[in-house]
Amino acid sequence: MDKFLINGGKSLHGEVVVPRAKNSYLAILSACVLCKGTVTLKECPKFVDIEKMLKILSSLGCEIKKIDRDVVIDCNNISNYNVAKELAKEVRSSIFLLGPIIARLKRAKVSYPGGCDIGLRPIDLHLKGLRTLNVNIDEKFGYIECKTDCLKGQNIHLDYPSVGATENIMMASVYAKGITRIFNPAKEPEIVDLQNFINSMGGKIFGAGSDVIEIVGVDSLHSTTYTPMPDRIIAGTYLIACAGCTGDILIKNVVPCHIASLTTKLRDSGFELIENDDSIRLVSRGKGNSFGKIDTMPYPGFPTDLQPQALVLQTISKGICIVTENLFETRFKHVPELIKMGADIKVKDRSAIVTGINNLYGAEVCATDLRAGASLVIAGLMAKGQTIISDIHNIDRGYENLEDVFKSLGADIKRI
Ligand code: EPZ
Repeated sequence: MDKFLINGGKSLHGEVVVPRAKNSYLAILSACVLCKGTVTLKECPKFVDIEKMLKILSSLGCEIKKIDRDVVIDCNNISNYNVAKELAKEVRSSIFLLGPIIARLKRAKVSYPGGCDIGLRPIDLHLKGLRTLNVNIDEKFGYIECKTDCLKGQNIHLDYPSVGATENIMMASVYAKGITRIFNPAKEPEIVDLQNFINSMGGKIFGAGSDVIEIVGVDSLHSTTYTPMPDRIIAGTYLIACAGCTGDILIKNVVPCHIASLTTKLRDSGFELIENDDSIRLVSRGKGNSFGKIDTMPYPGFPTDLQPQALVLQTISKGICIVTENLFETRFKHVPELIKMGADIKVKDRSAIVTGINNLYGAEVCATDLRAGASLVIAGLMAKGQTIISDIHNIDRGYENLEDVFKSLGADIKRI
């Protein structure tokens, strides 16, 4: 199994380009199932989760071609409504396929999804929304079997602004009779991107990013070429790494307002940030002050997917920071690994109390999940001495050759 070997303490300088967003690409790939034409998606990142999603699409009967960095998907002849268990359990996004497959074939069968082990990750809101749209759902033997004779537009109120449930219901409603309104939907930028993608095929969706999303049923969708949004979590990961290591980096292909919850905290704690339309420069001349508090919330609150990375920065900041993870029950698996590196962290229920120390020390640690793994890379880059990170396949799920990116900025890191 591959590992990362890092000799820490180098400052980071240079420019990096952020790839397209994993969590937008995964939803958009599901939505391709709705289209009887050809979809060209630009600049497809080489994330393992995206490769797995493409494999699921081809198992359903989609034809997939890669041309340079682009991917061309033809779902004209989709016939199989059953997502194989061994494929579905690999990624959380397999559950997003329920909606588009039902919309297209009136039947769907998917096993319970996989994804990062960061909590229970129920799908009750997905299923409740689909039932409201007149889908009969049987859950047995670990499978979710869905059938409908006609999808009917309805008003749906989500108890929680779930990203996946919002996406699933949006896609299931595209061909429904009448209008569907989703109240209390997720407002993440990826939801807006999904709306824009579906509308580029002739869909009629309005209000993504606001308190109510309206989907007017249409009869069909046509071919399109689309470029998904940049990955705001990767952009935030790079900024936090530079803040912790000191240096001066320019990240390109970013929408600054997508990570305003992070950049505001970085600026308040003393780092210099210069923002343009699609780039952010960060200058770090030394340690920052503690963020004080990090409370993860649905967008536009502080993103849970940046909590591990931001927590690492707090381990060497001046002062104490209370990090509260409100979305996922067990998203502190990076903490025991950081304690091996000398961090002063105490976890109680959903909060971690982080007391800043002078520096971390290199150690042998394990990447338990995607963002925990990314946070340990940052810790290794900041630490004095050598860090070895195992299970880095978890990092490859959502970062493309992360070691090459940091090497290009002056870090001493290699994959062994
Ligand atoms: C998406 O997961 C992302 N994954 C996650 O990113 C991200 O952390 C999460 O949204 C929150 O922003 C993809 O887009 C592939 P949720 P999802 O449904 O859709 C509860 C990463 O690192 N909930 O918004 O699974 C759930 O328990 C990954 O890239 C229900 O109760 O997130 C959780 O507490 C990790 N019932 C909260 O909502 C449901 O039916 C947020 O979950 C669904 C969710």
